[in-house]
Amino acid sequence: MTFRLTLTVNGEPRAIELDDPRVTLLDLLRERLGLTGSKKGCDRGQCGACTVLVAGRRVNSCLALAVSLDGADILTIEGLARGDALHPVQSAFIEHDGFQCGFCTPGQIMSAVGLIREGQAGDDPERIREGMSGNLCRCGAYIGITQAVLDAQARMAGATQGDAA
Ligand code: FES
Ligand code: FES
Repeated sequence: MTFRLTLTVNGEPRAIELDDPRVTLLDLLRERLGLTGSKKGCDRGQCGACTVLVAGRRVNSCLALAVSLDGADILTIEGLARGDALHPVQSAFIEHDGFQCGFCTPGQIMSAVGLIREGQAGDDPERIREGMSGNLCRCGAYIGITQAVLDAQARMAGATQGDAA
């Protein structure tokens, strides 16, 4: 039996045919669409390395069945930059050394983007640590990650105010 679905991935419509309803969103992205930025750390919802945004919300893509997402709008790390212009969260991670090996970084960045969009980042480091607690970093780059999210959230809030002015 073939399962047909349509997804918008990083702004592009994608028609997908699956012969197995058990394919996760993570495996679909990595193995069938060639989008390997989202990482498979644990494959069981514990590390956050696979985080993407579905309709603007953070999702562990290793736990989401692709067939359940027909019509969904998905943003992965590959869709964040605009050409050579990095997203403010990407720039902030570089400036604040928010990574070492980089394996968790795509998930950390997507989670940070989601957290800021949710309006939950604020200017309190403790709140950011709580909001990012689903994303583990084995290298222990947490200080830089928290600083990067704080900085990016401040920059994006400033940009929004500037847009409104
Ligand atoms: S790979 Fe999805 S949460 Fe770890
Ligand atoms: S930078 Fe290595 S796991 Fe986070």
